[in-house]
Amino acid sequence: MQKNIAVILGDGIGPEVTQQSIKILDTIAEKFGHTFNYSYCLMGAIAIDETGNPLPDETIEECLNSDAILFGAIGHPKYDNDPTAKVRPEQGLLKLRKSLQLFANIRPITTYSSLQHLSPLKNKQLEDVDFIIYRELTGGIYFGEKKTNEDQSWAYDGCVYTKEEVERIAHLAFKSAQQRRKKLTLVDKANVLETSRLWRKVVKEMAPQYPDVALDFLFVDNAAMQIILNPKQFDVILTENLFGDIISDEASVISGSLGLLPSASVGAACALFEPIHGSYPQAAGKDIANPLGSILSAAMMLDYFNLKEEATLIRDAVSWTISHLFVTKDIDPINFYFTSTIGELICDYIGGRMQGDINQENIELRKSTII
Ligand code: IPM
Ligand code: MN
Repeated sequence: MQKNIAVILGDGIGPEVTQQSIKILDTIAEKFGHTFNYSYCLMGAIAIDETGNPLPDETIEECLNSDAILFGAIGHPKYDNDPTAKVRPEQGLLKLRKSLQLFANIRPITTYSSLQHLSPLKNKQLEDVDFIIYRELTGGIYFGEKKTNEDQSWAYDGCVYTKEEVERIAHLAFKSAQQRRKKLTLVDKANVLETSRLWRKVVKEMAPQYPDVALDFLFVDNAAMQIILNPKQFDVILTENLFGDIISDEASVISGSLGLLPSASVGAACALFEPIHGSYPQAAGKDIANPLGSILSAAMMLDYFNLKEEATLIRDAVSWTISHLFVTKDIDPINFYFTSTIGELICDYIGGRMQGDINQENIELRKSTII
């Protein structure tokens, strides 16, 4: 198989984690006889520095001509504390989502038994947690009309949804539930918001098309509580843009490290794959960031290409590193391995150079021990 992949390294730790994914994709390509061509594009703070624009037109063009996009991270502290900044890195990502109509953001939440001690939740609550969030990504309050008056004593963000916008992501969420444990939970605020009442109505009307899926509803405030109290009750969660932004960050702490979690943003014609963590500027260039969020995002990309065996092999390799405690500093601040070493170990596993025969001495040499 031949695929063209647009790569947006982005800001902060984006480049170093994405480079590990590319090494791994190359190892997969070699093993399975595929060709992955990469074209590198700019977006985010780095694009502002180099071109003045967080999303240059060439990047949109290149992404539209690609089969998929692999993206690192976005953001720089110099913009975070300056609410007056007219040009901001995040505008690049929002514009890319809108231009490519990447309407569904998919975030799987899984747990690893060897990392349970890192989770703020008790072990009892972590058993069998495995759910997936479908967050609408190109509508709602993020993209509604925005206004402020002249003296800035008043501001307005409008929230709009259409039936079609709800339907297209709801179909994906129902189909995902059919492949999983057949339960779909719509998270909304239908006791207050008109847009939420539309979501409920449209999703209810669709339910007969998916008779094998049990549909239920939760208000977002209750959902925020349930995700912590009893996360194993969820299978597929469907929600609008802003609620999804909030509850997916909340859910991400369950697994123990934000650095582990991947995401896919899919549209009609294209899809983008990125770890859910931010640009973590304090760690940039130090080879200490966790590359697994990016690597698991690359696995989601292979699923999207329908390369199931290849995607499973990456996930097995990731589980193998975690269960052998080959982990980065966010997981073990004392005995940790570098970002690039984790990438190499995963390549070695995929290339068949590790299974059953771990050369512990060789691995120890690549460990960083802080005493
Ligand atoms: C995310 C991020 C973005 C969002 C920011 C960077 C605009 O938090 O992907 O969840 O709010 O959607
Ligand atoms: Mn977010």
